[in-house]
Amino acid sequence: RERKRKEGVNLLELAASFFRERLRMAEADSARAYLERRGLTAEVLADFGIGYAPHDWEALKRHLSEHGIPEAVQVEYGLLVHREDSGRTYDRFRDRVMFPIRDFKGRTIAFGGRVLGDAKPKYLNSPESPVFHKGRELYGLFEARQANRHLERVLIVEGYMDVVALAQFGIRNAVATLGTSTSEEHLSRLFRLVGEVVFCFDGDRAGRQAASRALEIVLPLMIDGRQARFLFLPEGEDPDSLVRREGADAFADRITCASPLSEFLFEQAAVGRDLARIEDRERFASQVLSALQRLPEGVLKSMLLGELAKRSGVEQARFESLLAPVVPTRE
Ligand code: UTP
Ligand code: MN
Ligand code: MN
Ligand code: MN
Ligand code: MN
Repeated sequence: RERKRKEGVNLLELAASFFRERLRMAEADSARAYLERRGLTAEVLADFGIGYAPHDWEALKRHLSEHGIPEAVQVEYGLLVHREDSGRTYDRFRDRVMFPIRDFKGRTIAFGGRVLGDAKPKYLNSPESPVFHKGRELYGLFEARQANRHLERVLIVEGYMDVVALAQFGIRNAVATLGTSTSEEHLSRLFRLVGEVVFCFDGDRAGRQAASRALEIVLPLMIDGRQARFLFLPEGEDPDSLVRREGADAFADRITCASPLSEFLFEQAAVGRDLARIEDRERFASQVLSALQRLPEGVLKSMLLGELAKRSGVEQARFESLLAPVVPTRE
């Protein structure tokens, strides 16, 4: 098993250096032009080990095969695609900018690849493999830990480009989930390292939905003084576009001003409701209560109940009697 893991890691490292080398060659002119258009410097490309998968069906396969790696292994780690119907095998990643995904020790365990233009899919990710489990890994976590002797806070963003652009502007504590929503496992792993997470999703409908889901997931984890905050970006912006437009200081100010969990919780329950009306206030209170249901017993919960009582005009004791005993919820 351990031997197998090592074999996979070696293969993925070999692929990562192959992609990095290819980015320097003439065939990568358009990829380098693309990265330049996106404003990425050589330094940040090197920090994140970004490379290029050639416009070729078998370039990586030939390279890995020369190094004695069986095709079956290349398939197992998601680098090679095997077509059942034709029996043919070919490189999964072609003509894409390649982002290596690294584990906590910095070993490459998977890749994300972006097309240079508008073709679909925009990003192609490695499939699950013996070393890669999407629901656990966070892009940029290794690099964030490298850049910070003591990491106190992590910014959770949506995309590869967001992590890399923020790092380029000196905000070196962003991580991204890999085309999945934030999971309990992501967050409990992060809270083992840091006391605070700041969610910073794109300023669009999907980003706001992701924030609501993140709130649900983070509530049961709010123990031991952990902090969770929510940063909402202007419509149409993501961290990459915004930090380039406004600069690092303005972005850092936004982080400082991000809403604490309690604020987001009440704000979200009030959206579209007229709290002067009893019926709206009732639904507002029910929504807050069902969130509080997920919160572990403690000072935060009592304080939020107190705040709910104040905002809805009902005695706190009434709400307490409505709260069922808390059973930890798991997704
Ligand atoms: P976005 O569509 O917000 O992309 O997807 P982006 O990061 O802003 O990319 P650029 O700026 O256009 O290059 C956010 C994240 O969702 C996942 C990727 O992890 C991406 O970074 N995603 C998106 C996919 O896995 N596949 C896709 O086709 C699109
Ligand atoms: Mn070769
Ligand atoms: Mn988006
Ligand atoms: Mn985006
Ligand atoms: Mn983007």
